[in-house]
Amino acid sequence: MSARLDWTSGAGRALQGSLRVPGDKSVSHRSLMLAALAEGRSHVRGFLEGEDTRATAAVLKQLGARIEAPADGERVIDGVGLHGLRGTDARLDCGNAGTGMRLLAGLLAGQAFDSVLVGDESLSRRPMRRVTDPLSRMGAQIDTQDGLPPLRIHGGSPLQGISYTLPVASAQVKSALLLAGLYAEGTTEVIEPHPTRDYTERMLAAFGWPIDFEPGRARLSGGHRLTATDVDVPADFSSAAFFLVAASVVPGSELHLQSVGLNPRRTGLLQALRLMGADIRIENERQSGGEPVGDIVVRHAALHGTEIPEVLVPDMIDEFPALFIAAAAASGSTVIRGAAELRVKESDRLATMAAGLRVLGIEVDETPDGGTIHGGRLVGGTVDSHGDHRIAMSFAIAGLLAETPVTITDCSNVATSFPGFIELANGCGFGLREA
Ligand code: S3P
Repeated sequence: MSARLDWTSGAGRALQGSLRVPGDKSVSHRSLMLAALAEGRSHVRGFLEGEDTRATAAVLKQLGARIEAPADGERVIDGVGLHGLRGTDARLDCGNAGTGMRLLAGLLAGQAFDSVLVGDESLSRRPMRRVTDPLSRMGAQIDTQDGLPPLRIHGGSPLQGISYTLPVASAQVKSALLLAGLYAEGTTEVIEPHPTRDYTERMLAAFGWPIDFEPGRARLSGGHRLTATDVDVPADFSSAAFFLVAASVVPGSELHLQSVGLNPRRTGLLQALRLMGADIRIENERQSGGEPVGDIVVRHAALHGTEIPEVLVPDMIDEFPALFIAAAAASGSTVIRGAAELRVKESDRLATMAAGLRVLGIEVDETPDGGTIHGGRLVGGTVDSHGDHRIAMSFAIAGLLAETPVTITDCSNVATSFPGFIELANGCGFGLREA
């Protein structure tokens, strides 16, 4: 685990430049898992060199997959085939990554061997029954610690396909069930209350597994094989989000963000910011590796508060910390509802953002599933990120606007999803340094 690290973010200049943020975290995790289970050699380009995705690579290596890193952002994976992984007595450490742990739980439920998944302090507090309950219904045997990690997965249990309607919109749970479904007898079907990111479905199809899916529903049967394929990982919209908000709120800014993944299940923040008056254009929209990708041009605009449509919530679930900052800088009030899931992310993001913004002089009325942020003048102060990468990067934006610097504590986990954030941010005009 990284050492504890604090940041100070002060007034920078108008943000200018053209940048490419690191690779998509969701796609990077999945590319490793499917390539490891495939037959043949897969090349992954644009791989996120983050602690989360590296933890997944390390786990798969412990299980016998061969994964080489010929260059930064590249992985070459020699798959072992669907039944080629082997067990280890060592605990499998997913670090900070909910995606790693939940997807691996599905993948490991169908193996012949036992395994134990562990995580860091934050991951050890995150709910796992959402995956272990439906996996148990498929026949898996998984022990938790009162619903929390570690997950002790007993191998050798035959799995049976089920049809499962998710109680909460969660791509992680959907993906865990689909991965278990590769090993199950019969058909596994997942129905969602609201469509979520469909990378697992798209990538299974790309690796040659027959799968039937549409927004809100996915269905596959066991008994096929995965064939190695190359994966081009787009830049992560969730990492681009900090720059979309920062350029929107800092006068005189114009940023060009290159080759950003624009899967519609990820881009709710674009719509929310546009509702608030943001000036954001997509250029050069194209397909890359079966995913929509484009360059985003964002310019400063006077933002105003709005009611965030609840239907957008799953499509911007990771972007709320950044949205809180946009709302703080906007005129008027911004209302968020239907976002209770934010309480079980890397931190309780509703509470952490509300507390931090209050320190900076912004009034926030918190509710169980959202809140109202009253835009206003930001003052400096010290805010606690609670070790949550997205909270830390969001408050770095607040520092650009505040009258005096903003100190953000516990920022080391930024490396889980956005290595090099400080350098990239300062390169375009942030005034960010280690405190
Ligand atoms: C992810 C799904 C989302 C998201 C997370 C990545 C994924 O989590 O918040 O950062 O890659 O499937 P939930 O499934 O818990 O909503």
